Amino acid sequence: MLRVNILLYALICGIFAKMNQPKRYLITSALPYANGPKHIGHLAGAYLPADIYVRYLRAQKRDVVFVCGSDEHGAAITIQAMKEQTTPKAIVDKYHALLESNMNDLGISFDIYHRTSAQIHHETAQEFFTKLNNNGDLELQESEQYFDEAANTFLADRYITGTCPICSYDKAYGDQCEKCGTSLSPEQLIHPKSTLSGNPPAKKKTTHWYLPLNKHEDFLRKWILETHQSDWKTNVLGQCKSWIDAGLHPRAVTRDLEWGVKVPLADAEGKVLYVWFDAPIGYISATKQWAINNNKDWKPYWEDKETKLIHFIGKDNIVFHCIIFPVMLQLHGNILPENVPSNEFMNLEGDKMSTSRGWSIEMDEYITDFVKKENGGDMMVDALRYYLTAIAPETKDSEFTWKGFQDALNSELVSIFGNFVNRTFVLMHKLCNGKVPAFHNDIADDADTALLKNILYTKETVETNIEQYKFRDALFEVIDLSRKGNKYMQDKEPWIVAKQVDENGKPTAAAQKQIDNCLHHCLQLCANLAVLINPFLPLTAKKMCYMMKVVDKILEWENAGKSNLLSIGYSLRAPELLFRKLEDEEVKQQIEKLQAKSKKLMENTTPAAEPTVKTVVSKEEIQFDDFAKIDLKTGTIVAAEKVEKADKLLKLLVDLGSEQRSIVSGIALHFQPENIIGQKVVVVTNLAPRKMRGIESNGMILMAENNNGKLCFVSSDVVNGSNVS
Ligand code: MF3
Ligand code: ZN
Repeated sequence: MLRVNILLYALICGIFAKMNQPKRYLITSALPYANGPKHIGHLAGAYLPADIYVRYLRAQKRDVVFVCGSDEHGAAITIQAMKEQTTPKAIVDKYHALLESNMNDLGISFDIYHRTSAQIHHETAQEFFTKLNNNGDLELQESEQYFDEAANTFLADRYITGTCPICSYDKAYGDQCEKCGTSLSPEQLIHPKSTLSGNPPAKKKTTHWYLPLNKHEDFLRKWILETHQSDWKTNVLGQCKSWIDAGLHPRAVTRDLEWGVKVPLADAEGKVLYVWFDAPIGYISATKQWAINNNKDWKPYWEDKETKLIHFIGKDNIVFHCIIFPVMLQLHGNILPENVPSNEFMNLEGDKMSTSRGWSIEMDEYITDFVKKENGGDMMVDALRYYLTAIAPETKDSEFTWKGFQDALNSELVSIFGNFVNRTFVLMHKLCNGKVPAFHNDIADDADTALLKNILYTKETVETNIEQYKFRDALFEVIDLSRKGNKYMQDKEPWIVAKQVDENGKPTAAAQKQIDNCLHHCLQLCANLAVLINPFLPLTAKKMCYMMKVVDKILEWENAGKSNLLSIGYSLRAPELLFRKLEDEEVKQQIEKLQAKSKKLMENTTPAAEPTVKTVVSKEEIQFDDFAKIDLKTGTIVAAEKVEKADKLLKLLVDLGSEQRSIVSGIALHFQPENIIGQKVVVVTNLAPRKMRGIESNGMILMAENNNGKLCFVSSDVVNGSNVS
């Protein structure tokens, strides 16, 4: 009777779970800019967690489509083209190919990796804009935008840099501070300057289409802060709330640029859609292309309420995915995301990860150094996936260290999980003729029951954790189960039991029964571990299937928790190594490589020049026009220090009102650095930067010499930044 009730209960639960299940899933990972290689912090933030989630859903045989692609518009691309002295098209072609292959090599199993330069995307984005515009959901506004007069062009937010009003980082972009992750508008930057000319930008009138976010405040408050108050992550809710509380404003969705999706209106020459308007629509166009490739219908994925849409992103993308894009989707008549699990940042060896500063491990680098090796490359894909998940920045920033990677790999994957599987296979071959031994119920004990219970318990906790986007905890549970397997085997010690031999030197019948039971359970546990580890470490799971001589179908999630996955008498292959240790030497090499790379990049960003100060002794006559080219401004010395091994040089920081400049000056014989702080000087501000003793100088200070040969400062009542004429 009890048994019947339990079965009935399980059946009802199953039906309820099915009823609550969404009909289909659409999973997205943030489209990376195709402006350069991406690092493992990106991987840990938006791609790996999504892949784990998707693999889990697929193992449950759910209807799921996983889309991503390259974000190929915006200033990130055109700036890179400028740097590499080529066209934006060449840039996106090059990096799209790189990103696609990197993701593939690291086992990220997108159903499609699309690109926003595709025609279907341009059409989709234009249709989206047109619909909103025709419905009167956009507003036309004239405004003043930053303009670079020297370059004769409007400046995209990314082309303006300055000091972050939140954290004072002095290289913040006009759309975002990469140090503290805050989204900004260029007006918020302190001392803004154009990256094209280096000048403070001017303002110029222009007309643009705006999305009036202010009109949607009620919707956003209800949808985010009420409906999703308990199921979204607190870091995500926090950012949304502070944005909404700060007041929502109309946001321009077009730009004066050449590169991008053209605004589909006759009177919009020279205007394109703002990259953050077109890029998320890329999720839709990718789905369309996937549907074409697979002969499916894309519409239900974006229009049917029974679709669960989940955006995996990094924290710098929260506002766009939780506020702006949902407003667009809502107006356009699409479904809204069910959740936006965003990760915080992953630091590296004590500093923020950054490709431009060379302080990063690029996916491509890792692949070259560890994956594309003659053998064992697969192991290192899963090793990286393991460590990145184990330290995923799910609730706060986390840190990758090579030593940490080594510890995780050597003392968790190799010593616990790998060791358990290996011991099981070795002993099974030694003590059970390489076949799955029978299980003898008559001698089953508490340890056996406990082990089976633990498998079931792990299955459930892994499910709960994955469904709540807690991949770290979920993975921990799987490793913990293998730890329990080791303990079980250690307690049963079949190798000792095997020493109870009969007259032929074979284990006695009683001993063999004990051995059989132990290894039977250990093998069933191996099969379960393969199912449970599969979403996280798919290559390992595959290899385990090979060893067990079973087809990949065994990895379906419904098999987790079963104690009869391997049939009695079935013969299995010899064990193969699942993981290898990371050697001290490799750790050392990688750290040295990182330091060298970052050093080299930092040196290369400043133009090289003669490391000497040349004194001009005589001057030829110049014309007025030559003189007029010189931009002279007043400034205050705010910091000064001696330059090592150069007794004439001082390194100064001069405040020019709109910015602070680092200038190397040959006045060290005249002044002690501490005595000149606060003094006013005249600065030649448009002198090409040059390097002196390895330090970049961005201008030159002018001083007068009095009758006694003493240098004098400017009178102190001039405002910094005043023109000198
Ligand atoms: N390219 C953006 C970034 O790297 C992310 C775009 S996500 C999308 O920050 F939704 F817009 F596609
Ligand atoms: Zn900041």
